[in-house]
Amino acid sequence: MNSYQREVLIAQFGSRLCFHEELGSTNDEALQLARRGCEDGTIVLAERQTAGRGRRGTEWFSGEGNSIAFSLILRPELNPALWSRLSLVAGLAVARILERRQIAAEIKWPNDVLVQGKKICGILVEAEKDAVVFGIGLNTGQTDFPAALSQTATSIHALVGGAVNREEILGELVAELNQLVGKVQGSFSELLIMIRERCYRTGQRIDYLAGDIPREGVCEGIGEGGELLVRDEEQGVIQRVIAAEIIRVRS
Ligand code: BTN
Repeated sequence: MNSYQREVLIAQFGSRLCFHEELGSTNDEALQLARRGCEDGTIVLAERQTAGRGRRGTEWFSGEGNSIAFSLILRPELNPALWSRLSLVAGLAVARILERRQIAAEIKWPNDVLVQGKKICGILVEAEKDAVVFGIGLNTGQTDFPAALSQTATSIHALVGGAVNREEILGELVAELNQLVGKVQGSFSELLIMIRERCYRTGQRIDYLAGDIPREGVCEGIGEGGELLVRDEEQGVIQRVIAAEIIRVRS
């Protein structure tokens, strides 16, 4: 098993890092720390999660030694009305660190990251008082996946064909998240261009759920507020789907 190099993590993050060999969910731990007033920039990292959570109550499995599961707690100086933008920005941060490794990534609204149509990263953004918790599960080292996942999941190792330095990726990702979150207030239009350029399935037909109602339409990209734009051909209108309404966009 490829264990984290503790000394490298400590040198990178110092007292901001809370490392656990095993946790239920890093997001649950991070939400508790946020409630108790932990420092901005605190990182909860776990080698294993026994109750990792995805969006809408799904489970998140992360294999020991071959993925990164962490939660970053930020207290952004940002009007809470704009917090919905943060999920998209988290997807962009992941896409950008993958691109530095020549991996072309797409953001599947609101915040999955896909490569060649397969999921490489899941993101769960939650809020607690004035804090935002960015929970990120990134597949790094898997070389092969169980049959049930082989058509839908991928990892950095599988894509670059070599071992992956998890400490380096984590350091880059935390820096990128901090930087992009700092731009949401003043330069969201700039970020939106970058997000739109990477929007999965733009121009293609998608099925989606709005509330509990299955719908279909053509994906028209992402709107000014970070909402998904879908052309409803029957009604001849553009639907603006906000993250809270949607369960998932199927491929
Ligand atoms: C999804 O794809 O639905 C989101 C998955 C988010 C998983 C990450 S792993 C780290 C953090 N802790 C959790 O319990 N969930 C997130």
